[in-house]
Amino acid sequence: MTTKLQGAGLEPIEHASRDEISALQLERMKWSLKHAYENVPFYKKSFDEAGVHPDDLKQLSDISKFPFTKKTDLRDNYPFNMFAVPREKVARIHASSGTTGKPTVVGYTLSDIDNWANLVARSIRAAGGRPGDIVHIAYGYGLFTGGMGAHYGAERLGCTVIPMSGGQTEKQVQLIQDFRPDIIMVTPSYFCNILDEMKRQEIDPRQSSLRIGIFGAEPWTGQMRADIETGSGIDAVDIYGLSEVMGPGVASECVETKDGPVIWEDHFYPEIINPDTGEVVADGEMGELVFTSLTKEAMPVIRYRTRDLTRLLPPTSRSMRRMDKITGRSDDMLIIRGVNMFPTQVEELVLKIPQLAPHYQIILTKNGNLDDVEIMAEVRPEFDYLNEAERAQLGAQLKHAVKSYIGISAAIRVTEAGKVERSLTGKARRVVDRRPR
Ligand code: DLL
Repeated sequence: MTTKLQGAGLEPIEHASRDEISALQLERMKWSLKHAYENVPFYKKSFDEAGVHPDDLKQLSDISKFPFTKKTDLRDNYPFNMFAVPREKVARIHASSGTTGKPTVVGYTLSDIDNWANLVARSIRAAGGRPGDIVHIAYGYGLFTGGMGAHYGAERLGCTVIPMSGGQTEKQVQLIQDFRPDIIMVTPSYFCNILDEMKRQEIDPRQSSLRIGIFGAEPWTGQMRADIETGSGIDAVDIYGLSEVMGPGVASECVETKDGPVIWEDHFYPEIINPDTGEVVADGEMGELVFTSLTKEAMPVIRYRTRDLTRLLPPTSRSMRRMDKITGRSDDMLIIRGVNMFPTQVEELVLKIPQLAPHYQIILTKNGNLDDVEIMAEVRPEFDYLNEAERAQLGAQLKHAVKSYIGISAAIRVTEAGKVERSLTGKARRVVDRRPR
């Protein structure tokens, strides 16, 4: 199943016709449904209960007759009962830590790992990476899919890989200075920490060797892209993925357009559904992203509900459809005094105020029956000379923006530089919910 990268050129499927892509998807989807049904008791039961059989899939849209798979289904089958191959054929395990309880376990055959490496190589290439480039990987290695997923892909493309992993920010900066990487793969929030550390050491990030940042694993806004690109002089592109579906590289953005990650549709079939009714909505409409894996052997997923909210967009630089930037996860949507709010909305407003850094946190508490919201933000290091009254003025500006754009009255605290909690694992914690359960 190895798709060879054609030198530094595109793979044929990346510029195939829609008909060719659909034909390949249909053939692979039939295989995937049958593979899941015959080898995973969970799928046999769920298809039987819904009264559907893999043979009922005659065209791609028939997938909507099949039942969804949810994260709780994976938890209920902990650890290995979602596997469709004998355990001995599973070459690697990854897991994502849930906020509560047991982790979600995923497995890969050697062929799955091979496909994954090819897709991440394709993603790095789309970001502007080429064989011979030096790639600094600051996604965490371990059970998290970020580090190893990026690593195998960068090697597959023919790059020199620096497996730095997350944390040790001073050392990250030292290695970037000494090894002179072209590309960094890291969460956008952790990259902001690296930039702060460079400034602390009086290194101008615009003078670093880095040309490209491949950022994902957490939501980040267009404002954040502009902020990072201006501050560091690199091209910042978006890579999307989730462990249950593979890991990084389910979709990835092209540097020439920067118009949302291209979904690698030859391996993953996307749908957008109304999260409340489960109905499939048309391309272009917002809703919850759902994936069916088309080639995965060890752990096929059929109509997996990601909880990520976005929409499908038409192809541009490649023949495959794109996804819009993720607004947030439906689980992350805060309902404050009846008003819906996503952390990314706060990010947009924070970054519109030039003196504020891209570090922020939303703290929720209960005041009697009502929810109270506090937004903590901090000034950029270069504005650390501002006194308390001047910071309070910035806070008043942010308060006004949050009230007018989101419709929520929030208390705002603008601190000195470096006071908002930083993540050591890579994914920033944007919401701290202190409301009693
Ligand atoms: O975060 C895989 C990954 C690693 C993707 C490195 C990209 C780079 P999980 O830990 O299972 O896997 O978390 C998956 O993270 O459902 C989204 O909510 C969020 N997420 C991942 N990429 C993006 C992105 C990895 N580019 C969950 N934009 C997903 C927004 C993202 N959210």
